[in-house]
Amino acid sequence: MLDTQTRIELPKLPYAENALEPVISARTLSFHYGKHHAGYVANLTKLIEGSAFAGLALEEIVRRAHAEKATPVFNNAAQAWNHTFYWHSMKPQDDAAPKGKLKAALERDFGSVDDFKTQFAKAATAQFGSGWTWLVAEQGKLAIKATANADTPLLGSAKPLLVIDVWEHAYYLDYQNKRPDYVAGWIEKLANWDFAEANLG
Ligand code: FE2
Repeated sequence: MLDTQTRIELPKLPYAENALEPVISARTLSFHYGKHHAGYVANLTKLIEGSAFAGLALEEIVRRAHAEKATPVFNNAAQAWNHTFYWHSMKPQDDAAPKGKLKAALERDFGSVDDFKTQFAKAATAQFGSGWTWLVAEQGKLAIKATANADTPLLGSAKPLLVIDVWEHAYYLDYQNKRPDYVAGWIEKLANWDFAEANLG
């Protein structure tokens, strides 16, 4: 599980920039983390300086900025949070598979792990425009949820377990318009099932 971020800073990547190759190249990761994620953090830092948001934990900024319709603060804070969650939703591995209570819950709510993977890939591929595709737990059941742009499950009651970033900046250098190839590689080779299971609690 992620710790609450009490300081507004760019968290360290949990692996080296080339660790997710060949699915995600070091070049993509370098831009995505070092420019996009870093940019959201830098923008947020500037936006909240001297404001009522200064000193709040990141999750709290996301929720309050949304409630107060402080759109630039919300967009940058939510993107900062979503990206940290995304880095942890991936892990370099060869043959990982869902285990234990996560496997049991996927089988209960999607029929089988393969059926879940198919539905998740379909949702991530079909999602229009920029956004995020999540595996969440809500009211005792697992579900797939799409959020547009910077939107995040932090705003609702669903508990996020795993996320894939489907903004073009996540895959365009490696796959251009072929989002389905990025999604397929991601779900088979990168999805961090241990992180998802820990989030299930
Ligand atoms: Fe991104």
